[in-house]
Parts: sequence; C-alpha cells; structure tokens
Amino acid sequence: MSNRLDQQRKGSFITVEGTEGVGKTTNIAWIRQCLNTYGIEPLMSREPGGTNLAEEIRVLLLEPREEPMAELTELLLIFAARAQHLARKIVPALNAGQWVLCDRFTDATYAYQGGGRLLDKTTINNLENLVQADLRPDLVLILDIEPELGLQRARQRGEPDRFEQETLEFFRRVRAAYQERASQDPTRYLVIDAGQSLDQVQRQIQSGIEAFMSRRLAV
Ligand SMILES: Nc1ncnc2c1ncn2[C@@H]1O[C@H](COP(=O)(O)OP(=O)(O)OP(=O)(O)O)[C@@H](O)[C@H]1O
Ligand SMILES: [Mg+2]
Repeated sequence: MSNRLDQQRKGSFITVEGTEGVGKTTNIAWIRQCLNTYGIEPLMSREPGGTNLAEEIRVLLLEPREEPMAELTELLLIFAARAQHLARKIVPALNAGQWVLCDRFTDATYAYQGGGRLLDKTTINNLENLVQADLRPDLVLILDIEPELGLQRARQRGEPDRFEQETLEFFRRVRAAYQERASQDPTRYLVIDAGQSLDQVQRQIQSGIEAFMSRRLAV
C-alpha cells in the first residue's frame, strides 16, 4: 500500500473498550493488522497493567478476596497502575513517535467505577487530570454488546474474576456509561455493534481505522 505515514509524524494512541467478553482481545489483533497495512507496528499494552508493577496492581484488582475492596481503594489502585503505565511505557513510546494500542484505558474507569460502581464522575475526572494531564486517546473503539451475551462468552474461559462476578445490572450500567461517553464525542469514539458476526465486526473496524487514518493525514 502506498499510504505509509511520514516517519516524522508523532504516534497516535488508540484504546479499545467494552464489557466482559465483548471481543477486545480478538479485535485488538485485527486492529494491529489494519495498522500494519499502513506500515505502522503499534506498541501493544493493556490496563490495568502494562508494566511489571502495574501488572502486580492488576492482580490485586482482579483477584476475588475475602475482605471487600472499598470503591475508593479500587479507583486509586487503578489510577496508581495507570500512572506507572503512563510514566514507564505509554508516554515514552508516544514521545518517540510510536503508536500505542491499548486494551482498556480511562474510559473503562468512567464506565466501571463511574457507571458500574456509581462513583462520582468529578472524582474520576480530577484523578484523570492529575495522572494524565492533557493526555487522552486519539481514538477510542467501543465494542458494544448486550452484557448477557458478552458474559456468556467470557465465562466459557474459566473462573470469573472480581469484576466478572458482578451482576447483570452492574454491566448494564457499565454499557450505558460507555454509550454516554461515546455520544458526547462522536469523532473520537467509534461504537461498534459487537453482537454481529466476527467478520462483520472486523469489516466495521477496518472502515473505522481507514476513516481515522484519512482524518489524520488531512490534518
Ligand atoms: N463477534 C463475535 N462473535 C462471536 N464470538 C466472538 C466474537 N468476537 C469474539 N468472540 C469470541 O468471544 C470470546 C471472548 O472474546 P475476547 O476474549 O476477545 O473478549 P474480551 O473482550 O477480550 O474479553 P475480556 O473482557 O474478558 O478480556 C472468544 O472466545 C472469542 O473468540
Ligand atoms: Mg481480553
């Protein structure tokens, strides 16, 4: 393909979001392939996690435990992991001109801790500003599915983690929070109906990436 990017251009930051079992891992591999056709090899990462220390915090967050985790503890651990991930991996990569493709980021915090746990959005926004300054993803791909269907897919994989044990009502609020965020910024967010066949989902992702690339080249 002839649409290789000028190597001088700064990398973009793309994140993929959605409720459990929606197909993030499956489709991130596909997004990577789409970017490869433009000569881009993105740095792959995930949240919570992405560095050794942040992955240790991920274990704390996901492991079911006897002592109930306070909602604010959960929120602060997530942003602690994110601060580490940004400082040690994402920001150095973007500054070096690399692209970053990440499985979940701060939209998941608004969706799970805001929508799901009903924590105050202003609190989340304050932490976002503290930890990220003005860094936001350039493109957020939201895979949208009826939570029941996603949970069925996710639960085929084995023991549910601390989040997967939540109620259907919790995931309905998570989904609604994602949809609300997407509707506030339709250019930066791309919502895809992930209840369709994988083939259809991938075709829509491909056109979304193509549209993003042409917008980017037009700047
Ligand atoms: N569009 C689709 N139609 C049917 N099955 C799908 C589709 N997309 C993904 N799957 C299947 O659903 C399962 C869950 O997908 P995947 O692991 O990619 O989800 P995930 O969003 O990464 O889950 P988690 O949130 O737990 O990380 C996998 O077995 C995958 O093959
Ligand atoms: Mg996954």
